[in-house]
Amino acid sequence: MKKWLIYLITSATLFSANAFSKSKPTLDQPTEIYFSSQAAKNGDLVVGVYADLKFNGVISAIDKNANGVITHALKVTKFDGKASSSKLIAAPEGSGYEQILFMGLGDRDEDKSDFDWQKIGGNAVQEAIKTFKTVPQMVFDDLSPEATAQLVFGAKLGSYYFDKYYTDPDKKKRQQRISFVVRMIKKVNSLYKTELDPVANAIWHTRDISNEPANIIYPESFVNRWKRHFQGIAKTKIKVFDEKDMLKNNMGAIYGVGRGSKRPPRMMIVEYMGGKKGDAPIVLVGKGITFDSGGISIKGSNNMWNMKFDMSGAASVVGTVHALAGRKAKVNLVAIAALAENMPGGNAQRPGDVVKSMSGKTIQIRSTDAEGRLVLADGIYYGDVTYNPQLLVDLATLTGSAGRALGKDYGALFTRHDDLVSKFIAAGKASGEEVWQLPLNKNHFKAIENNVADVMNSGPDAPGASAGAAFVGSFVRETTNWVHLDIAGVAWGDKTKPLKASPGSTSYGVRLLNQYIKDNFEK
Ligand code: BES
Ligand code: MN
Ligand code: ZN
Repeated sequence: MKKWLIYLITSATLFSANAFSKSKPTLDQPTEIYFSSQAAKNGDLVVGVYADLKFNGVISAIDKNANGVITHALKVTKFDGKASSSKLIAAPEGSGYEQILFMGLGDRDEDKSDFDWQKIGGNAVQEAIKTFKTVPQMVFDDLSPEATAQLVFGAKLGSYYFDKYYTDPDKKKRQQRISFVVRMIKKVNSLYKTELDPVANAIWHTRDISNEPANIIYPESFVNRWKRHFQGIAKTKIKVFDEKDMLKNNMGAIYGVGRGSKRPPRMMIVEYMGGKKGDAPIVLVGKGITFDSGGISIKGSNNMWNMKFDMSGAASVVGTVHALAGRKAKVNLVAIAALAENMPGGNAQRPGDVVKSMSGKTIQIRSTDAEGRLVLADGIYYGDVTYNPQLLVDLATLTGSAGRALGKDYGALFTRHDDLVSKFIAAGKASGEEVWQLPLNKNHFKAIENNVADVMNSGPDAPGASAGAAFVGSFVRETTNWVHLDIAGVAWGDKTKPLKASPGSTSYGVRLLNQYIKDNFEK
C-alpha cells in the first residue's frame, strides 16, 4: 500500500515537472510576442477600452450578439475606462469565452506619449497575470499601429520577472509567450519587431544579468553571458582584456581593484559599427563591480547583499549596444564594461597604496570601497583616447550620496558640457528614465588633489557624488563631450512599476540612452 502511494506521488511529480518544462521558457529567454488579427474563440480575454466604452473591433460583435450585455455590465459597475483602470466580468453566455478583463485606455482623443502607452501595456499585463496567472489573448484592436506597438513594448517589460530560482512552479510568473489581437497587423508587426522588440530583449538580458547573484555573475561569466546574447547580431565585435592585458596596458587602477578576488577582473569592449565608416563613435562606459564588499575598507553587513547590483552600469551599457545593434540603428557605438570583484584578501590592495592608471596619473587609495571610480578611470581613459568619441557617457552605481540626494526618481547627471543637459533631461522624460543635474565645479576637482599621488580616490571635503564625478572626469580630456550618470539610487528597487513588476534590477539607462541616441544621432 505504502509503496503504491510513493509510486503515485513520484509519478505525479515527474509529470508536473515535465509539463512545467514544456510550458515555461528556458532560463534566460525573453517572453515571445505574437500578433493576430482575430481572437481565438475560447478561454479568457484582456480587452482595451476607451472611456467612451465604445468597441470597434472583435468585442463589438460579441457585444451586439449578446444584446449589449457587455456595455451594460461596464456601465452598471461604473467602469470609467480611465487609463490603466480595470474591470473583470463574466463573458456573455454563448460567446465561447469565459472571463473578460477590461483595461481602460483613457479618453479616445487625448494625446498620449509613447511612455503613456507603454505604461498602459505594463499595467494590463500585470493585472492579467494577477487575475489569470497565464496571460490570455490581449485584445487591443482599437488603437493606431504606433500606439499598439508602444503598448506591447510596455507589456513585455511589465511581464518581466526574475523567478528562475523558485522551485515551486506556482511562484513563477514569467510567460513563455503573449499574444495580441490587433488592428493593421502588418504595420504593427513590422514597427514592433524591427524597432521595439530588440530593445525589450536587450532590457530583458540587462535585468537578468543585473539580478543574478554574485556567485553566478562575476567578471568572466558576465562576459560569457553577454557573448551568448550577441551571437548572430550583425556588425558587432567583442574584445576582452584579461589581467595580463591590463598590466600590458598599464591599467593599474582596475587591476588593483581586482587583486583581492579569486575571480580575475576583465574589461569587455563591444563595438557596434552600424553607422558611416570613419564617423566617430558614441562610447558608453559602465561600472562593473560584480560584488562590492568594500575590500579592506569593508562595508557593514547590513544590506551588503545589495552589492550584487554594483555591476548594473556595465550591464546597462552593454545592454544599450545590444538594443541598438538589434534594431540596426545607423550609428557607431561602443560599450566598455569595467569588471572586477571588490574583495578583501591577502592579495587585496590597501588604503594608502598608490597605483598608476593607464593615463599615467598616480592615485592614492584612501578607501578601497571607492572602487567604482578606479575601474572607471582606466575604462573611461581607454575609451576616450582609443575612439575619440563624439559623446562619452559613463554609467555607475558610484555613490550612496547620489542615491540619498535624488532617491529613486532620477539618475544623477554631471557634466562639464552644459549644452548636453537639456537634451538628457528631454530623453529622460520621453523614455521614463529621468535625470537631474548635480554640480561639478573646480572645487570638486580640488578636493581630490593629494599630497602623495596626483589624485586620491575620495574627496572628504566635497559632497560625495560630486567628488566621485570629479575623479572620473579627471581621466577624460576636457574637450570630450562627457556625461557622468551616477545611478546608485535608480539601478534597482523593490517597488512595482508599470514597466517593472519584479523586485530588483530596473535596467536603468538602456531606455534613456536608446532614446538619447535616437533623438540626437539618428535624425
Ligand atoms: N557601490 C558603492 C555605492 C553604493 C552605495 C551604491 C549604496 C548603491 C547603494 C560604492 O562603491 C561605494 O562604496 N561608495 C562609497 C564611496 C566612499 C567610500 C568615498 C560611498 O558612497 O559611501
Ligand atoms: Mn564601494
Ligand atoms: Zn561600488
